[in-house]
Parts: sequence; C-alpha cells; structure tokens
Amino acid sequence: MIRLRRGSTPLRLSTVVATVIGLTIALLAWQQSERERQFDLQDLARRARALAFQVAFPVRDALQAPDPVAEVLRRQRLEGHGRLLGYAVYRVDGTPLAQGTALTDAGGTVKTIAGRALHYRQEVLAIDRDREPPLHLLAVPLRDQDGAPLGALVVVHDIEFIDKRARARLGQFALWILVVLALVFGVVSGGAWLAYERPLRRLADWMRRLRLENVQDAPPRGLPIALLESESSRLAASYRAARAFGRTRSRHRVRQDRVWSRERLRSHAIDCLGEQQQLIVLSNREPYMHQLEDGEARMIIPAGGVVTALDPVLRACGGLWVAHGAGDADRDHADAHGRLTVPPGDARYTLRRIWMTREEEQGYYEGFSNEGLWPMCHLTHERPIFRAADWEHYVRINQRFADAVVEESGDTGAVVLVQDYQLALVPAMLKAVRPDLCVGLFWHIPWSNPEAFRICPYRMEILQGMLGADLVGFHLQQYCNNFLDTVDRMLEARLDWDHFAVELRGHTSQVRPFPISVQSWKERKVPQGQELADHIAKLRHAHGLEGVRLAVGVDRIDYTKGMAERMRAVARFLEKHPQHRGTFSFVQLGAPSRTHIPRYREYINEIETLADDINREYQTGTWQPIHFLVAHHDATAVHSFMRMAEICVVSSLHDGMNLVAKEFVAAREDNDGVLILSEFAGAARELPEALIINPYDVEQFADALATAMDMEPAERRARMERMRRSVDENNIYRWAAAFLTELAATRGPPGTIPVVESASL
Ligand code: F6P
Repeated sequence: MIRLRRGSTPLRLSTVVATVIGLTIALLAWQQSERERQFDLQDLARRARALAFQVAFPVRDALQAPDPVAEVLRRQRLEGHGRLLGYAVYRVDGTPLAQGTALTDAGGTVKTIAGRALHYRQEVLAIDRDREPPLHLLAVPLRDQDGAPLGALVVVHDIEFIDKRARARLGQFALWILVVLALVFGVVSGGAWLAYERPLRRLADWMRRLRLENVQDAPPRGLPIALLESESSRLAASYRAARAFGRTRSRHRVRQDRVWSRERLRSHAIDCLGEQQQLIVLSNREPYMHQLEDGEARMIIPAGGVVTALDPVLRACGGLWVAHGAGDADRDHADAHGRLTVPPGDARYTLRRIWMTREEEQGYYEGFSNEGLWPMCHLTHERPIFRAADWEHYVRINQRFADAVVEESGDTGAVVLVQDYQLALVPAMLKAVRPDLCVGLFWHIPWSNPEAFRICPYRMEILQGMLGADLVGFHLQQYCNNFLDTVDRMLEARLDWDHFAVELRGHTSQVRPFPISVQSWKERKVPQGQELADHIAKLRHAHGLEGVRLAVGVDRIDYTKGMAERMRAVARFLEKHPQHRGTFSFVQLGAPSRTHIPRYREYINEIETLADDINREYQTGTWQPIHFLVAHHDATAVHSFMRMAEICVVSSLHDGMNLVAKEFVAAREDNDGVLILSEFAGAARELPEALIINPYDVEQFADALATAMDMEPAERRARMERMRRSVDENNIYRWAAAFLTELAATRGPPGTIPVVESASL
C-alpha cells in the first residue's frame, strides 16, 4: 500500500511533473480550439459569399426597377432562416432600400459595413461581438452590366453557434487534461515511491535499527543509487567494528579503571608476549642518536611521534629496537653488530642500528619515503615524486630491516612491531621466511582516500607488503576505513567489513584504530616546582621574553605542520588587536628535519623570511612578536616553554595524530593554558575542548588567538581539566597495551604468506 506523506519526494515529484504536463496540454488545447474557431469563421465567410452571389442578380435587377416594384421584389428575397439572419440592400448613395425583418435591431452596424463596401468599392467582412447574438457581416458592392455602382448587398449571420462550439471543445479538452493529470500523478507517484521512497525508507529504518538495536541484518538491497548500497555495507561494518572496539575498551575500563602505568604495561606485555617471546620494535628513526658537535659526540633524542611514543613502551617492556643509525657518531657508540643498550646510564632495552650508505639513505629515506609516500599520504598539496631508483633502495633497505629481525629473533619467536611508512614492505618480507612471527604494523601518518593512494606506481607492492602483518593499526577509524577501501579497490583480496579484516592469499590481517598518546612529563624527569620556575625565568631572560604573554608552537620543521599559516594568523591577530602589541609574543620551537630534501630547505627559508617580515612590521626597540628558535630542543626546554606559554598552537594542515597537542595538555599540571588545535590533526577527535581551527582560515585562526587571550580562567581550567583526564586515561601505555592485546589475539595457525611482488627487483 502506497502511503505518501505531505512534502514527500514522490508527492513533490508528481506535483511538478503533473503541473508541467497540465500547463503544456492546456496551452496546446487552447491553440487548437482557436484554430478551429478560425476555420468555422472562414467557412461561414465562404457560405456568405455564395449566398451573396445567389441573390446578387435579382437584387441588381430590383435596384434598377422603379421603387415600389423593386421594394416588393426585394422584400420577398431578403428574409433569412436558421443561422442566416437575412440580407440588407443599400443604394449607391448609402440610403437603405430594404432589409430582412430580423435585421431591424442591427441596422446601425449593417449600415456602417454597407457604407464601407460602397466607399472602398470592395468586399468588407466584419464580426460584431458587442451585440447579442454576435454577428458575422459580409458586404459586397453591386454594379450594373457596364460596371457602374448600383448599391451594396449585406449578408448577415448569427455566429453564436461558433462560439458555443469553441466553448464545448475547451470543456472537452479540460476533461481530458484532468484525466491525463490524474494518470500522470498516479504513475509518477507510484514509480517514485517504488523506486526511491520505499528503498530509502527501508535503508533509514535499517540504519535506525543498526544504531539502536545493533541489528546483524545486511543492509537492504535494490537501493536506487548503487553506490549507496556498497557504502551502507561499509558504514555498517565500520559502525559495528567501532562499537565492538568501544565495547572492548569499556570492558577494560570497567574491569580495571586505573590509569595505565609503565609497570602495568610491563606485566600486561608479559601476558601478551608469553615468557619466551621477545618484543622487537622496528622504525626508521632511532630513539637515541649520537651526533658530533664541535668534535664531541652528543647524544640527542630525535623529535617526532614515533620516538616520543615508543621509547616509554620499550623502557617498560624491554626488548630490541631496530632503527637506522643516522647519527654521525653512531658507529662509535655501538658494537660490531650495531648494538648498544639504552637509555644511556639506565639500560632498559637494546638498540640495534642498521647502517646504510649515503646513496641508500637518499633513495630509501629522502626519496621514496619522504618525497613520495609522505606527501602522498598528507593532503597538503605537495606533489609526490616517485623514482624507480628510490624504490629499489626502499625495497633493499626494507629487506635489510627484515633480515635484522630474522637474525635477532630466536627460535622461540618474537612479537614484531613495525613502525610507519618507511617500512611498509617489512611485514610480508618477515612472514615470507618466518611465518611464526607475530607481526604488527602501525601507520603513524594519515591514510587518505584511495584516489590519493592510486598515484603510487608501487601501490600493489606497498599494500601486499603491509598485509603481511597480522595487525595493521592506524590512529583513527577513518584511516582504517580508507585503508580497507583502498585494498578493496586495488587488490584481489577478501574483505570482511564486519570484522575489519583482509584476507590475502590465505593470510588474514586485522585492521584497527589505536589513537597514539604520550607519557607523563614527570616520568621524563623534567624539572618541576622551583627548578621549573627557575628554568622558565632563565629562558625568558635569554630570549627577551620577560613580561610578555606567550603562545608557543613546537614542531619538526615540516610543510605539513602549517607553520606559515600560524605566523600569518599571529600577524593578523596583531593587526586586528593592536592592544596586544608589545605584550604578546609567539615562540616557535622548530627542529630542523629532513634538511637534505630541497623542499624542506625551502620551507625553513620560507618560514624564516615570513617571521622576519612580520617582525619588521611590528617589532619595537624592546619587543618582537615572533621568536623562531630553530634548533634541536631537548625535553626540558620543550616542557619549560609549554609551561611558560598560555597558549599552544598546533595548526597542522594534515596530521595522523600530532603528539605535541597531547604533550602540551600533559605538561599543564597547573590545569591552565589554552590549546589551539587544527581540525585536520587526528588529535582533534580526542580533544574537542581545544579551540578547533581550520588553519587555512586566517581570520578564524586570528580570532581563536584573541579568544584564547581573553578566555576567563574558569573556562580555561574547565577545558584543560577535561583534556587532561582524556590524555591521562588514554596514555601511551594504554595504547601499547591495546595494540599488544589485539596483536596477541590474532595469533592462529600460520597460513599461506603473501609475498612482496616487485616488478623492479
Ligand atoms: O610520525 C611520522 C614520522 O615520519 C615518524 O616516522 C618519524 O619518527 C617522525 O615523523 C619524524 O620524522 P623523521 O624521522 O623523518 O625525522
């Protein structure tokens, strides 16, 4: 039974279609009726001419006879009947000679028409609608045998019958229009209801039940838009997966609502790994790097999310970290196998350094990883570059990492955590020779849409490499969805959207979101209390920041971080709010990064020039609006600046998570400070109490700075407290525990292992 609601699509559609069709038919019907009326009038004119012709001869004779005789003759012939009302005869001087009796009332009109015919000496046709009944008049001039004018003969018809006929036709047309409209209305409404309304209502109903009752039914079929059908399946799958994941997490919370600590992770890791197994972490970037400075080796902790997140995990669990020995003094601080224990002076785990030649580093790290994959995964309008030679180095170095793991993992097996896009091929390479290893891959950067990924000439190899892992982790559910979508479109793999799993050649990879996080600053042993206050005072003095209110940004100098956008926002803020000139400064701590890549060198120059330009415009003898401090800043400095500033600005143009945002929150034990956070950083999903901005919108960004500066202490506190609760609960130990738990759960009998297919090697 079709039920149409007011305003429903079928109703609106059929109303529009019926109105258009109705108006068109009405116009055509009116035109047709008019044309037929003209035919009737033409027909009547023809008949009038024939009648005039018939009576013209006797009337002409009569006009030539003496008056009394002529009048009698004429009278007998001038009466009409039916629609012919009669005739009238006028002399050449315009005086009436005689007329039928039915024309008595129309004498004036008849005389005028006769007068015209006499005047112009030609036939005159006229219609008089001012009278009742309306008249049709034909006046013809009469001549004698020699052609001399004798008078005029007028033939008069009643044309009411023509108008009546036209009206009747219009009435009939109207009836047909109504019938056609009713049919159109019925067919269009019924069709639209069957084709759109009913399937969409079923979809809406299914979605509602999915949301409220967690139904397991497949989405309704036969949707009018095919895309909607596949999208709704995916929606259901990701919804169920997210809910299942949420349930697992809340089970954790209910069971043990304590905050995760290093100790708790350690005992949890033992449960997950088993006594025999060791934990091996692989990443390109090493957690401790030995660099030469003025001929002296200095140990630094490189900036970046991987190190920030994974070092506390390894400190907690112990194990082995395999990474590129990129420091120029690294070889002097490792044994013959590239091994050393770290952290220095507090050995918690082993770092094994992988060596590469400058050429290999250029091809694998600078080229393929950072000029190809990095811009491809970040939607920041930087053009990715893929070179065949870089790819060869990428494959070779990935193999070197895999070989190192095989060498290091004993007979009892290992749980291997591969980190990030520089090592995408390692999981399949490992499984090819050691199917017993339990391999997880965590992707620290965004996974954007399949269209963006398609441009990679080695996309199949990358996906196959990743799918060697038993568990593939991303920061957000959205990246998991995008990844599955990409696999779906590019590989002949079996996708299980309900469980977020991909089966490729008999091997199954689970795909899950794990939003990464940070540890507390206390654990990092940064100064606290008076020591911190002294440190802050020292830094303020050293940088000329005494007495000013501060905003801070802390980043690797990378075009994805939106540093130019933030400086422009600072300039706009000072332009719009001149009262803050002289009393507000923005400090940007920038760690030089990937400086062998031309784009990164250009970017540093760009930012420095921009900072200089803004400073030149606004600075005074004693005050500078922007302090761009390019250096490798250690944890103590970063923490002190985060405590010194009232505002922290994170304005990434695209960022997997962005741990600076969470580090700022973690730093604010005083529950003060405002975070301005880009909506394009993954962290924005977890920290909605930040002032969320679009970094491309300079006005909004500048206004957010003003809002942060003017925010009431109570509101700052309330927002910060909520953010701190979230970061405390979801710290790095919880992240690692969740990943290990899920990875341990994937262990099953080894299947056929996907192999990296490379056309080039
Ligand atoms: O978070 C992405 C990432 O590339 C990490 O893999 C890396 O540790 C960090 O950024 C810093 O980048 P890089 O190691 O190239 O200096």
